[in-house]
Amino acid sequence: MSQKSKVAVIGLGNIGGAVASNLVKGGRPVIVADRTFAKAKELAQKLGNLVQPAEIPGAIKEADIIILAIYFNPIQEFLKQYASDLAGKIIVDPSNPIAPADGGGFKKIIGENDSAGQVLSAQLPKGAKLAKAFGTLGAATLGNAAHQTPANVLFYATNDISINTEIGELIRDSGFEPVYLGGIDQAIRIEVFGDLHEFGALGRTVTLAEAKAEI
Ligand SMILES: NC(=O)c1ccc[n+]([C@@H]2O[C@H](COP(=O)([O-])OP(=O)(O)OC[C@H]3O[C@@H](n4cnc5c(N)ncnc54)[C@H](OP(=O)(O)O)[C@@H]3O)[C@@H](O)[C@H]2O)c1
Repeated sequence: MSQKSKVAVIGLGNIGGAVASNLVKGGRPVIVADRTFAKAKELAQKLGNLVQPAEIPGAIKEADIIILAIYFNPIQEFLKQYASDLAGKIIVDPSNPIAPADGGGFKKIIGENDSAGQVLSAQLPKGAKLAKAFGTLGAATLGNAAHQTPANVLFYATNDISINTEIGELIRDSGFEPVYLGGIDQAIRIEVFGDLHEFGALGRTVTLAEAKAEI
């Protein structure tokens, strides 16, 4: 069997921490990086020896798949800053393009009909391929709903069907059933307020049978 792609999680907060932990539970090695090496080292000590802490440039160089578990605006900066290192890589975007609203709650910070996935797909480094995934559930649910029987679904979208095997394998190793929705124009459905988001019309986790009824 061919070796699995190397994966790095960059940004080790709520989502990055949950994704790294879920991958380790699925037996998948993961490289982790944050703005400081200390944070990566701390997470590696907590999760055990499947986790390799790294500095950001080293993590990008070593990995084939880079999960950017940071906020939407910083991702845009990140794509520029590390454009040459990210060339040709698979980039996974879990971001929700929102900010706190004046009257409480959250508001979208891009056009109503736009998605972070579509905006980022226009800013990709040379040869990089983008998948929208891992942002459809809140961080707590992402942790709690992983590795269940029957498995809960994580939806994903990408224009590059050549990476479907790798993204599917990644989602499966993180303890979910992958469901491909289509091109990046479908990202809006799996971002916050979308019809397939936990904080949108769907409002819950779904198994594969339930997901089929929704899509
Ligand atoms: N939280 C959720 O329930 C949820 C659900 C779905 C999707 N998302 C999306 O997931 C992404 C991450 O959210 P989160 O809640 O996990 O955020 P978070 O808890 O604030 O974690 C973000 C992490 O990324 C680090 N970071 C920030 N900028 C960075 C950079 N340029 N390079 C490397 N690391 C950087 C932060 O480091 P510092 O501590 O140094 O700032 C922090 O450790 C966001 O796009 C969010 O919209 C979140």
